[in-house]
Amino acid sequence: MKVAVVGGTAGIGYGIALRCAKAGDDVVIGGRAAEKSQRIAGEATEALGGNVTVGGDANENAVKDAELVVVTVPYPGLADTYKAIKPSLTEGATILDCNVPLASEMGGKPTRVMGIWEGSVAQQAKSILGMEFPVASGFHTVMGAKLVDTDHELGGDVLVAGDMAARRVVQGLVGKIAGARFVDCGPLENARILESLTALLIGINIRYKLDPGAGLKIAGLPE
Ligand SMILES: NC(=O)c1ccc[n+]([C@@H]2O[C@H](COP(=O)([O-])OP(=O)(O)OC[C@H]3O[C@@H](n4cnc5c(N)ncnc54)[C@H](OP(=O)(O)O)[C@@H]3O)[C@@H](O)[C@H]2O)c1
Repeated sequence: MKVAVVGGTAGIGYGIALRCAKAGDDVVIGGRAAEKSQRIAGEATEALGGNVTVGGDANENAVKDAELVVVTVPYPGLADTYKAIKPSLTEGATILDCNVPLASEMGGKPTRVMGIWEGSVAQQAKSILGMEFPVASGFHTVMGAKLVDTDHELGGDVLVAGDMAARRVVQGLVGKIAGARFVDCGPLENARILESLTALLIGINIRYKLDPGAGLKIAGLPE
């Protein structure tokens, strides 16, 4: 599967790019500047031992032909990024939005989320892109550093809400990540609950001085 990671030059996006490439997907890292994306893609290829080649390009080019587009961009740049990539998206491409409207992005606390008119960042993305693109929202309770550390199994659950078709695509992606378990969290309207969990975990990380940070595992699910 061709996967583009918009905002994949650092943080959680870089980690998802590494994990997808390691699992055999055809991955392109996107960023605002093509040169930087190509440099980071070279580092990703090296980090994976040269066994796979990760591509890099400007966001608008990276998404061309991608079946799955993962978007990991800090909230202040998110709406503009969606508007910029929309004309280049392949018809029917699945969107995985991993973003959180942390209040710290606008001068507030990282333990709080901002209210979003549409209900969540993922629903805001859907309103920008339109009904033709299935949208899922996920990975909010997975720390980027754990994804980047590809020598170790991920551990913990990957909570995903979204349009049914998008949930199924993301379930396939999570199934390829060693030590990750997909948890179906229902329709896209539940994204606002998932997004707020990041702020909750950041508060736990601060209080317990955790690095790389806490994750979540849902008790009682069949293995
Ligand atoms: N990191 C985590 O562990 C984690 C966990 C759960 C959820 N999240 C959420 O995932 C999203 C990304 O977080 P992150 O920590 O991975 O972000 P980040 O490392 O700060 O940024 C990721 C990439 O986004 C691009 N970017 C930065 N500012 C931008 C802007 N104004 N407009 C467009 N692109 C911009 C940059 O790439 P270029 O400079 O190459 O364009 C950057 O490398 C956030 O909403 C965050 O809350 C993160």
